[in-house]
Amino acid sequence: MSEETRILGIETSCDETAAAVVENGRQIISSVVASQAALHAQYGGVFPEVASRRHIETIYPVVSSALTQAHVGIRSIDAIAVTRGPGLAGSLVVGVNMAKGLALASGVPLLGINHLEAHLYSTWLQTDVSEPGFPLLGLIVSGGHTELILMREHLTYERLGGTLDDAAGEAFDKIARLLGLGYPGGPAIQVAAEGGDPKAFPFPRSWLEETWDFSFSGLKTAVLRQVRRHQPELEAGVEIPRPGLPIADLAASFQAAVVDVLVGKTIKAAEDYGAEEILVAGGVSANRSLRQTFAEKSTVGVRFPPLALCTDNAAMIAAVGHQRYLSGQRDALDFDVLPTWPLTE
Ligand code: KG4
Ligand code: ZN
Repeated sequence: MSEETRILGIETSCDETAAAVVENGRQIISSVVASQAALHAQYGGVFPEVASRRHIETIYPVVSSALTQAHVGIRSIDAIAVTRGPGLAGSLVVGVNMAKGLALASGVPLLGINHLEAHLYSTWLQTDVSEPGFPLLGLIVSGGHTELILMREHLTYERLGGTLDDAAGEAFDKIARLLGLGYPGGPAIQVAAEGGDPKAFPFPRSWLEETWDFSFSGLKTAVLRQVRRHQPELEAGVEIPRPGLPIADLAASFQAAVVDVLVGKTIKAAEDYGAEEILVAGGVSANRSLRQTFAEKSTVGVRFPPLALCTDNAAMIAAVGHQRYLSGQRDALDFDVLPTWPLTE
C-alpha cells in the first residue's frame, strides 16, 4: 500500500469546532479551528449544553471551508478521521454525525480517533522533523487530562500514571478564576506570572513517590489559602477586583509548582524506562516556562507541537488517521461516541 494519504480530520470533543486536511500525516493543507472560548468565558469554563449547540451551528461551515481551502472534494480524501472520545458526549456526537454523513454520502472510509492519542501525534505535524525515536515517553497535559504514557512503537501505549484529581490545565483554569484572570486560565496565568517571583510562595509539590501519578488538589488549596489570607472577604467563585492581591507572585509561584512536578516526574520516568526522547502535548504544552524547564533539565530530546497545535485542532486527528488508515483500520458507520475512552484499554 502506498504510504501517501490525504485525510480529513474532524474534532468537536470540547469547545473547539475544527476540521483539517492533512497529507501523509505531516503536511497540513488546511486547518480551520472555530474556538468557542469567548462564548464560555462568561461562565468561567465550558458549559456543555452551550458547547454542543454551538458545534451544531459551526460544524458544516468549518468542514466545508477546510475542504475549500485545501482545494479538494470529499472524493479525493482517503479517509475521514473523527474524534470519538474522550470528551463531552453532546459535543462529540456533532462531529461524529457529520463524519458519518459525509462517509455515507461519499463512500470514503470512516475512522474513529482517540483525542489523547491525537495530542501525542500533534508533535509530528511538521514536515521537517525526524521520525520518533522509540521507546518514547509522552506527557499529555490538557484541560481534561494529565497522562504519562510509554510508547514502544506507533499506535501502542502503556499508561504509567495520571492525575488523581484535577488535570494540569484544569488547575490552571481554576487558579486563574480564583485570581480573577478569566478563561482560559493557562495563557492568562502565564502572562500574569511573567512579572512575578516564582519563589515568593513556597507552594507544595505533590511528588507521590513510587508512583507515576499526579495530584494538584493540595496545591490548589494552598493557593486558595494564600488568597483568603490577603482577601478574607473572598467567597469561592466570586470574581471581584482585588487591589492588594499579589497576583503576579501567586501566578508565578503556582506555575512553578506545576512545572516542577510535571518536568521532574516525566524526566525520571524517561530515565527509568530508557526513553530515547520525551514528547509533551496538549494545551498546557504551550506553556513557556514548562518548555524552558524541560529544555534545561532533560538529557534526552524533548519535542513539543508547534504552538498553534497545542490546543485542540483537527490536524492532529488527521495525523493519527494517517497512521490508523495505513494500519488497516476501517470503522463501521454505526459506532457510538466514547466520552470516557481511555488511551489504553
Ligand atoms: O488540549 P486542550 O485544548 O483541551 C483539552 O483537550 O482539554 O487544553 C486546554 C487547556 C486549558 O486548561 C488551558 O488553560 C490550557 O490548556 N493552556 C495552558 C496554556 N495554553 C492553554 N496552560 C498553561 N499555559 C499555557 N500557555
Ligand atoms: Zn485536547
